[in-house]
Amino acid sequence: GATMRRLLLCALIGACTPTPAQKLVLDELTTSLAAPMTTPPTAADLDPDPSVLRVVLRAQRLSEPHGGFRYAYNGLTPGPTIEAELGQTLEVELINELDAPTTLHWHGLHVPFAMDGVPWRGGAVAPGERFTYRFVLEQTGTFWYHPHFDTEGQVDGGLYGAVVVRDPANDRAAYDLVALVDDQGEARLSARQPTGLAHGHGPRQRRWLVNGAAPGFVTAESGEHVRLRLINTSNHGYLRLSGTGLRLIATDQGPLAAARSGEGEVLAPGDRVELEFLVGAEPLTLRTRPYSLNGGVALGADHDLLEIRPTGTAAAPAPLRLVAPERVQHPDPGYADVVWSFAGSDRTARWFVNGSRFPQGAIDTFPLGATLILEVRNLSPTEHPYHLHGYAFEVLSRNGVAPAQPTYEDTINVRIRERVRLRIVADNPGDWMSHCHILPHAEDGMMTVLRVER
Ligand code: C2O
Ligand code: CU
Repeated sequence: GATMRRLLLCALIGACTPTPAQKLVLDELTTSLAAPMTTPPTAADLDPDPSVLRVVLRAQRLSEPHGGFRYAYNGLTPGPTIEAELGQTLEVELINELDAPTTLHWHGLHVPFAMDGVPWRGGAVAPGERFTYRFVLEQTGTFWYHPHFDTEGQVDGGLYGAVVVRDPANDRAAYDLVALVDDQGEARLSARQPTGLAHGHGPRQRRWLVNGAAPGFVTAESGEHVRLRLINTSNHGYLRLSGTGLRLIATDQGPLAAARSGEGEVLAPGDRVELEFLVGAEPLTLRTRPYSLNGGVALGADHDLLEIRPTGTAAAPAPLRLVAPERVQHPDPGYADVVWSFAGSDRTARWFVNGSRFPQGAIDTFPLGATLILEVRNLSPTEHPYHLHGYAFEVLSRNGVAPAQPTYEDTINVRIRERVRLRIVADNPGDWMSHCHILPHAEDGMMTVLRVER
C-alpha cells in the first residue's frame, strides 16, 4: 500500500534511503518481476489502401549461440502482432524459410476454407515457397495465428503471433497490450533449445513466459485503462487466473455484453480473454494458479504473469465503453446432430474421437446453411480444450446447464465427464478441423473433420 508507493517513488527518483525492512520489500518487488513487460511490435502495413492490411511474414529457424535454434517470424519470437480494424481485408504473405513445410492458421477467425492454413487437401507451403492468405475480418476481438503443419513442434518452438481486430466504435484503452503466454522448460530460456525436442509430455518444472520472456511489469498512469489481451499459446499448459481487479471484458469471440470477474477463469491452450484494469493508485497484479488436466484446481505455487505499477494518485476510472456484438441466446434443444466422444489416456498416449484416431475415422458431412447442434463428450481421465476451425460456436450448455449470458467461443475446455452442446450455422463450406488444442493430444489422434458441403 502506502509503503509500496513510497518505495516506488523512492526508486523512481532515487532520493530516499529505504530502511532494512523497506529494502526487503523492494528487493522482493524487483526480483520477482524485474523488467518491464515487452510486447511484440506491430506488423507494418505494406498496402497504402486503408481498407487493406498487407503483412509479410517470413517463417524462420534461427541459430542461437550454444548450438540451439529458435523459430521466428521476421526474426521475432513471438511474431509481430497483426493489428487490424473490423471490415478490413487482411492479406498476409507467408514466406517459408524453414527446412520443413509450414502454414498459417487463423485461430478463431471465420475465413474461407482455402485460407485456413491446414495441410489437409493441399494447403501446406513447401520450404522456399510462399503463399498469400487473404480474407475479410468480420469479427472483433483477440485471435492468433500459428502453423498447422507439425503443429506441436512448430508452435512449441515459438511460431505464433497475435491478431487484434478492433471495432472503431469502441473506446480505446491508453494501454492496449497483447500477452502471449506460453510455458517452456528452463532449457528454452537459457540455451534457447527449442522445447520441441524435449517438450513436456512428462513432468517438469513449469515456467511461464509472457511474449517470449520472463513475466514483467507495466508502468501505467493512474486514472487510465490497461486492456490486456491474454492468449494461451501453450501446447498443453492451463492458466487459472487470479489477481487484483480482474475485470473480464471479452472471451474468444470478442466483448461480452456484461463484464464479469476474471478471478478463477481457466484459460486452456488456444483460449483467449481480455482483461480490463482500472488503474488507480495501487499496484495491480495478475497471477496464474496451478491447474491440473486431471481434475482442475491443484496444489502448488502461483506464478506472477504481470504487475501494473501506477504512476500518480488519480482514482481508478470508469470502465471503457465497448460494444458487444449482437447475440441471441438459443436454448439447448436437448438433441445433437453430431456427437464427438473424446477418449484416451496418458498411459497409452493414444487419443480418440468416436473410437478413431485421425486421419482414420468417418467424416461428418452436412449441407451448407444448416443449423447444427454439436455435442462433445469427454470420456477420458483428462480435460480437453475443444477447438473448431472456420466457425465461432455458441455454447448452449455444459452438462445441460445453459451459460449465464450468450457465450460465443471457438475453443472450449471440456472437463472430465462433461458434455457440452454447441450451435453453429453451417454457413462456411469446407473441411473444418475439429480437435483438441492440447497439441500432443491432437498429434496423437484427437482430431476429426466437420465437412460442410455446398
Ligand atoms: Cu489453434 Cu487447429 O488450431
Ligand atoms: Cu486433449
